[in-house]
Amino acid sequence: MTEPYADLDAYREATADERLADYLDFLRIPSISALSEHAPDVRRAAEFVAQRLRTIGVENVDVSETGGHPVVYGDWLHAEGAPTVIVYGHYDVQPVDPLDLWVKPPFDPRVEDGRVYARGAADDKGQVHLHLAAAEAWLKKRGALPINLRFCFEGEEESGSVHLDRWLEANRARLQADVAVVSDSGFFEGNLPAITIGLRGLMYAQIDVTGPHLDLHSGGFGGAVRNPATTLAEILASLHRPDGAVAVPGFYDDVRPLTDRERDQIARLPFDEQAYKQMIGVDALYGESGYSTLERRGARPTLDVNGLWGGFQGEGAKTIIPAHAHAKISCRLVVDQDPARVFELVRDHVLAVAPTGVRVQVTLHSSGPPSLTPIDHPATQAAARCLELIFGQPALYIREGGSVPVTASFERILGLPVVLLGFTPPDDQAHAPNESMRLDNYENGIRTVVRYWGELASLPR
Ligand code: BES
Ligand code: MN
Ligand code: MN
Repeated sequence: MTEPYADLDAYREATADERLADYLDFLRIPSISALSEHAPDVRRAAEFVAQRLRTIGVENVDVSETGGHPVVYGDWLHAEGAPTVIVYGHYDVQPVDPLDLWVKPPFDPRVEDGRVYARGAADDKGQVHLHLAAAEAWLKKRGALPINLRFCFEGEEESGSVHLDRWLEANRARLQADVAVVSDSGFFEGNLPAITIGLRGLMYAQIDVTGPHLDLHSGGFGGAVRNPATTLAEILASLHRPDGAVAVPGFYDDVRPLTDRERDQIARLPFDEQAYKQMIGVDALYGESGYSTLERRGARPTLDVNGLWGGFQGEGAKTIIPAHAHAKISCRLVVDQDPARVFELVRDHVLAVAPTGVRVQVTLHSSGPPSLTPIDHPATQAAARCLELIFGQPALYIREGGSVPVTASFERILGLPVVLLGFTPPDDQAHAPNESMRLDNYENGIRTVVRYWGELASLPR
């Protein structure tokens, strides 16, 4: 049998050098969406993606305003009778601190040991770029795609996708499709392919505890007033039970319990707890009792303190009662938890335990719902076949602890099934110093997507 995509593979190989150079140029743009001083860079990255879409022959390319960072839209709709797919990725990246831990500056990409190192290499510029390459192969080599594509590349995923839902609602007309393919998740490990079927939702909030007008002398006033920092510690300690479960009343009420079949599937994943501990540098794992590590990480909700500050942090000693203290906290949520409801529960609990003598405020920062996508959808099965063909091993079905808010939005606002097809394993160090993408996964990702469009075209409609 002749390989039906040999010409497209040949094109991919012949263009490998220019493609890598272009990928590195993309990585040089510091498109950090969370930091307002980088807004021009985020826009520059959007223009970069838009220009590439135009160059490969995608039509109606538009850097579309959202009220925040733009969405880059483009389509190619000439495969009459064939399915239409929305392709999603994000071109914004996480902040880069702590900078001193980077071997080379985060926006000065380095190619070493078969990896590209830079902020965004894996999350998610590498995956955006491999989609551009796959479409390019079809359009340049065959002059057409086998299916219809609508590209939607977001610029504020890493800062909570605040404007995306409104943009999706306003753009319904040009987002008609049969399925959405979200490439912003990963492999189980290394180059062991996986399809993500569950993502957790997120509720992110801040707690502010305010006491006296000013920092007070802790000798002169200690014993007379309540200490905001101590109070904050007490509030935070009240959020969990000794067995690791979240102590907020009602927190678990809407959680859909894991079925025996789901637990069995998770238990069969090749997870090496010892290696995992070593990778993250801890001597013991911890979490809600009664669940395995993989269950706790992917299929159970959590509450974490993400940061806390208040009072004196400088060198030496300063004897004060701080006037105020603060914490950022977040919950990862699972189906059927509602982020707005969980915020209310957490807020009500915090206010209920807040003592007199201080003022306590809880404010919502951002949120996104959880999602669970069907394993048995034909588009998911087609993706699994392509992954197995290219990576030589059957794809695992995994639940990820991270969040990609758009997944639930595609389902809820556009009514679309979603396939989470991503190519980056956990050791790519997304969000951390020295983030990287394996070049073999990047190139094989292109081959996978090239075939995936062909597979989807041949599915019975
Ligand atoms: N790509 C990640 C989400 C992810 C992480 C999926 C690990 C699969 C495995 C995404 O860019 C991300 O970091 N999301 C944020 C969302 C938040 C900023 C709203 C997250 O999960 O913290
Ligand atoms: Mn991402
Ligand atoms: Mn991310």
